[in-house]
Amino acid sequence: MDTSQLMFRDGLMAGERILVTGGGTGLGREMSEAFLKLGATVYICGRRQGKLDDCAQELMDAHGGTVVPLACDIRDADAINEMIDRIWTDGPLTGLVNNAAGNFISRTEDLSVNGFNAIADIVFRGTFYVTHNIGKRIIAEGGRCNVLSILTTWVWNGSAFVVPSAMSKSAINTMTQSLAVEWGRYNMRFNAIAPGLFPTKGMSARLSPGGQGGNSRMEGHPMGRHGEMHELANLAVFLMAPGAEYVNGQTIAIDGAGYQATGGTFWTTLQALGDEEWDQMRAMIKGTNAQ
Ligand code: HXC
Repeated sequence: MDTSQLMFRDGLMAGERILVTGGGTGLGREMSEAFLKLGATVYICGRRQGKLDDCAQELMDAHGGTVVPLACDIRDADAINEMIDRIWTDGPLTGLVNNAAGNFISRTEDLSVNGFNAIADIVFRGTFYVTHNIGKRIIAEGGRCNVLSILTTWVWNGSAFVVPSAMSKSAINTMTQSLAVEWGRYNMRFNAIAPGLFPTKGMSARLSPGGQGGNSRMEGHPMGRHGEMHELANLAVFLMAPGAEYVNGQTIAIDGAGYQATGGTFWTTLQALGDEEWDQMRAMIKGTNAQ
């Protein structure tokens, strides 16, 4: 990301201590970079220590400051507890970005129970486990925490061919609204961003294998383009930074009015595909899962 396109002053986030789940790649990395550049200490977690180490080093080389890479699979509540114990030895967090997600396109009738759980365990359960673990500590000890969850516009519209993700992200939207009310009195606030298309490697491999799907289909979009990373990062910083404390319980779309306002759904072109094409796409997606 070209950090000269950040709209905020240096030092804005000094003293903030933020955990970004899935912070080593994709949107998580971009947001981590913005928080770091503006003075925050950033913890990034993901499943692969090597990727996290590389990311942390690259970001610190570029901007100085501190990025701490911690391998953790957020499907595992015990592993989350260990990771957060480790973070707390440095001091309490002041912010959490629930960014880690999993997704792949599939006809819903082709999903196995394991396939459904592969998504729901990360997005629905894992996001709750992390939020709950940190929330309990803040309630017990005092302090403050600003929680931002990365959703998608299909929390309002639903979306064909990604039903486990749509269901799980909608649940996190509901968590955001519910905890904003329940835990507001503990100096915690909960907001969410619903991005439209901000292409990343992980997303393209699983949602547009071989160029199939809606990923590159911008014809009907009012602005005719994808989102740019600095645009997402600027919104994330605004919601996470001191000064926005009275914003609580909100989910803000950032999609160039492309999908939410036009009521468009993703991947409608996939309706035309047959068994053979789905077999090919499934093979391509599964080939990326181990990477
Ligand atoms: C059908 C599939 C499948 C596919 C996996 N499965 N891929 N079923 N079609 N394409 C099934 C498997 O057969 C298996 O069920 C079960 O899912 C678990 O598969 P694993 O490969 O063992 O899972 P795992 O290694 O845990 O991988 C998790 C994952 C993977 C979610 C499947 O994609 C992943 O790790 N993703 C993380 C990164 C990511 O997805 N990023 C994109 C996020 S984009 P069986 O029954 O065979 O045992 C996003 C929003 C985009 O979230 C918004 C756009 C606007």
